[in-house]
Amino acid sequence: MNHERSGELYDRALSVMPGGVNSSVRAAIEPFPPFAERGDAGHLIDADGNRYIDWVMGLGPLLLGHDTPESVQAEIQRHASQGPMYGMPTEIEVEHAEFVARHVPSVEMIRFVNSGTEATVSATRLARGYTDRKKIVVMQGAYHGANDSTLVEGDIEERSPSSAGIPAAFAEHAIPVPFNDGEAARKAFESHGDDIAAVLVEPILANKGIVHPVDGYHEMLRDLCDDNGSLLIWDEVITGFRVGGLQCAQGKFGIEPDVTTFGKIIGGGFPVGAIGGKEEIISQFTPSGDVFQAGTFSGHPVTMAAGLETLRFAAENDVYEHVNELAEQLRTGLTEILAEEAPTYTVAGTDSLFKVIFTREGPDNLSGQCEGGCQQRTECPRFDDCPKTGADVAAAETDRWRRRFWPAMKERGVFLSQNQFESQFVSYGHTEEDVEETLAAYREAL
Ligand SMILES: Cc1ncc(COP(=O)(O)O)c(C=O)c1O
Repeated sequence: MNHERSGELYDRALSVMPGGVNSSVRAAIEPFPPFAERGDAGHLIDADGNRYIDWVMGLGPLLLGHDTPESVQAEIQRHASQGPMYGMPTEIEVEHAEFVARHVPSVEMIRFVNSGTEATVSATRLARGYTDRKKIVVMQGAYHGANDSTLVEGDIEERSPSSAGIPAAFAEHAIPVPFNDGEAARKAFESHGDDIAAVLVEPILANKGIVHPVDGYHEMLRDLCDDNGSLLIWDEVITGFRVGGLQCAQGKFGIEPDVTTFGKIIGGGFPVGAIGGKEEIISQFTPSGDVFQAGTFSGHPVTMAAGLETLRFAAENDVYEHVNELAEQLRTGLTEILAEEAPTYTVAGTDSLFKVIFTREGPDNLSGQCEGGCQQRTECPRFDDCPKTGADVAAAETDRWRRRFWPAMKERGVFLSQNQFESQFVSYGHTEEDVEETLAAYREAL
């Protein structure tokens, strides 16, 4: 594959943008990332004309793939040509809010913002304002965007900001616990219960290899929050309108968070975030409440049109059946391939998410294992070895994944997530042929 033009563009980018990119993960590919030129259904064409089967899908927003159906495209164009924005409320925001409130079990009211980061920043401020408490329990290794309140590393006893430029006081008020570890969450509440404003958790760790919750974990967090007067915030920036379809992961798992953060799919490929939940809590945002929240671009008409029409299209067509079926084919195909080529590795994912985690240990006998991706079944022979926490995923063979496997897949025309930790996404634009080609590439590259 020739990458001459991408190389030249990266050279220029390095002179004018830090690390040559506008979001860090894009530079994870070495020696430099291919520059995207255009999309085509489930494929991506780079600046040198190379074509890939694209499982990154913009890091999640592109549920329908790179081609927007006519109805979605028409609404985007209509709203872009009418304004494109006003600094005044518009009908399309109301319609989108009504759609989300109709489909997502815990959402009565919603505030749209411009990114998942803005959503988690606003949600943590809201939880602190609503409860008049300071501390937020977060999961070790989880990602909630560039949010000073959640960029923390360490544990209950000792913790510090995970980035330069964040005052230590933020980490004092963020308590990291391992995902899936009920004991650690209980301990956090024993030590700080009356100052815990919220537990902030993804339903599935989707930025750290894809880690499914163990049985009863979310129920336990729900109970802990209820018993201690803390809010349960679910970060559904990735899982929202992907896992569980239109009812989101909360509908699938049967848990009602107090507050939910959204992003990605609800903007149909345009910059978006949102904070939804019970009216009593969400109405604490200004101007109806005292928790300040505002934004010039919030509820942008083009974004609202793209997001709402994408979701309407999904509601009226076989979108979720298609993406979930193809992802299931990928996961079961990968399970078969791993049994022969790399039996310690774990297939992870659910709905339209998939990933192979290069776990170092596995059982000798694989009979009866989860075939459609790790579901943390205690009867699965992999149960003791499959990742339960972010640290378990970080302990996998990440160098092999990055240095050997990723480039080998790219050479075969399959574009996987930029590092071992991010999810991979199936879209409505993908086909069975894409799945077959991808499985053949995995078989060769592993
Ligand atoms: C779970 C989760 N929360 C929040 C964010 C931040 O969203 P954004 O990149 O739109 O700021 C991300 C981004 O990937 C995410 O995966």
